[in-house]
Amino acid sequence: MKQFIYGTLLLSVFLFIACGSDDSAKKGAKAGGNNSGLTDFQLKNGIGPITAKLTLGEIDVAKVKKGADLFVQKCSPCHKLDKRLVGPALRYVSFRRTPEYILNMILNPTGMVKDHPEARKVLGEYLSPMTDMHLTPDQAKEILEYIRSVGKEGKENNIPEVPLFRSSAK
Ligand code: HEC
Repeated sequence: MKQFIYGTLLLSVFLFIACGSDDSAKKGAKAGGNNSGLTDFQLKNGIGPITAKLTLGEIDVAKVKKGADLFVQKCSPCHKLDKRLVGPALRYVSFRRTPEYILNMILNPTGMVKDHPEARKVLGEYLSPMTDMHLTPDQAKEILEYIRSVGKEGKENNIPEVPLFRSSAK
């Protein structure tokens, strides 16, 4: 009996130590200095299928055209360029978010809203969450080109930015 108690005690001490160190190792590896539980990459670029920085060239005009059509079909029920609707105005989203963040938002809105602190904060302002439209990565990239092009066009024509948050001073 005594042996059994000793055995159990030793085992629990061992498990306690093992779990404890495992946990802190995980935290160190995952959080990379911030305490959100996300990597620094995820904090900046979102959570989803895009896990590395992309190299974007000049705006691709053929993609812009396809992206514009997709935007009208899939996004315009909730987003306008220069007006809040269900979601934020998107003309200048490529200036406030990284391209990777935009793609992850398009491809994984449910995960973003659940686990990303910034997407959660934005959702608090807009209430109804963005739905997953099951687009392919290529379609998402076409929409990204469209978004980049309307942003550029807006700057060239001095179109004012509609703030993301109502409380913004801007
Ligand atoms: C059912 C409504 C709905 C649809 C459809 C929708 N969105 Fe959204 N979207 C939202 C809402 C609401 C938010 C803000 C809340 C959030 O970020 O979680 C948002 C946020 C975003 C953001 C982040 C904005 C920012 O500044 O953080 C991007 C980018 C975006 N949407 C792009 C798109 C694109 C592109 C499409 C079409 C493929 C689309 N959305 C379709 C409702 C929608």
